[in-house]
Amino acid sequence: MSPEIIFDPYTKLYSEASTLVRSSDIRDLLSITGRSDIISFGGGLPYIGGLPPEEFSRVMNDVLREGFTEAFQYGETGGLEMLKSRLVEVMAEEGLSAEPEHILITTGSQQALDLIGRLFIDPGDTIVMEAPTYVGALAAFCPNGPRITTIPLDDMGMRVELLEEELQRADASAPKFVYVVPNFQTPAGVTMQKSRRDKLIELAEKHDLLIIEDNPYGLLRFEGKPEKTLASRAPHRVVYLGTLSKTVSPGIRVGWVMAPAPVVEKLAVLKQSADLCSSSLNQMFAEAYLSQDIWKKNLENQKNIYRSRRDTMLKSLEKHFPKEARWTHPQGGLFIWVTLPEYLDTSKMLPLAIEQKLAYVPGTAFYPDYSGANHMRLNFSFPPEEQIVQGIKRLGKVIRKEIELYHSLGLDHP
Ligand SMILES: Cc1ncc(COP(=O)(O)O)c(C=O)c1O
Repeated sequence: MSPEIIFDPYTKLYSEASTLVRSSDIRDLLSITGRSDIISFGGGLPYIGGLPPEEFSRVMNDVLREGFTEAFQYGETGGLEMLKSRLVEVMAEEGLSAEPEHILITTGSQQALDLIGRLFIDPGDTIVMEAPTYVGALAAFCPNGPRITTIPLDDMGMRVELLEEELQRADASAPKFVYVVPNFQTPAGVTMQKSRRDKLIELAEKHDLLIIEDNPYGLLRFEGKPEKTLASRAPHRVVYLGTLSKTVSPGIRVGWVMAPAPVVEKLAVLKQSADLCSSSLNQMFAEAYLSQDIWKKNLENQKNIYRSRRDTMLKSLEKHFPKEARWTHPQGGLFIWVTLPEYLDTSKMLPLAIEQKLAYVPGTAFYPDYSGANHMRLNFSFPPEEQIVQGIKRLGKVIRKEIELYHSLGLDHP
């Protein structure tokens, strides 16, 4: 885990906002997952080993040869115009039509979350999030001091009927926005079904809501029919976030926001104070890469690898996990969400797993109130299949042991 800080002489200097930053279990975990002896289901890492280095080098060399001056210069805060046009094509792959002038390029979609938090949230404002939700969105929004209303998920995505009840509560204050990850949600791996999307848009219209649609995984579908994006149904109600992190590479840090023009303009002003502009070199690489057919071929290849790893993990879970456990069956993305009996605490169990040279993310990381202790998120995109089989077998043993311990202590017979 992270090195222990014994005494911090700077404490009295820190801002109040900094105290609202969530400590990230994932960040702590990633320091372990780098160890070669650990089988890690913990991070959310794409599998870079599946990408062809020669093709990436060739594209990068072309960029350096043809655009050296531009690549090593500052660029526009809003982003490279040619890249915006490419991203319009990327969004069209999901049936979303967009205009380049409604796009702001960001340094990963994580930056977009940070800017959105700063643009919309004043301390005490209500925002709505799924439960569980993306840990990085919690990290981005929390320093602004929101009151977070959570709406649980099930296999069909956010339980929008509960959002409706919440909005009808007489004492409820109008939320600034509703944040959702509709496709292969992290951490749960579930996809919001059409009826839920319809209802969410209906509620947005009725209650004048803004929706933040965060869609990093939509193009990582292994099977089944894609659902239409929320942004394509009600563009005036939606701030849409995209990223190349899962479809090209997270190392290039290229994400984007598509939003109504006034919102794009405000976000651009905030971005200017954050980093002036995203890396020109990386944007040019992304533009050149997306202009060639290899990006679709490589994405197909990545999906084949992930599909096979998901299948291996699902099979291994079936074989090695106790009957008390349940898990989601994602049709894409990177994660499976496991639910254990209520009496188990996956944070307390983590050191036992680490002893067995395994890592996962405990459920509490994904809830604003640190509930969800009987859940865990498993990543299947990164570990090779033989590690998935070994790791799930060992994790199954750890869980069985904990269940046996619970029963042997008679805790199930009050
Ligand atoms: C739901 C979601 N949103 C945003 C991000 C941030 O991605 P990036 O900053 O790499 O574009 C991630 C990364 O895992 C994510 O899962």
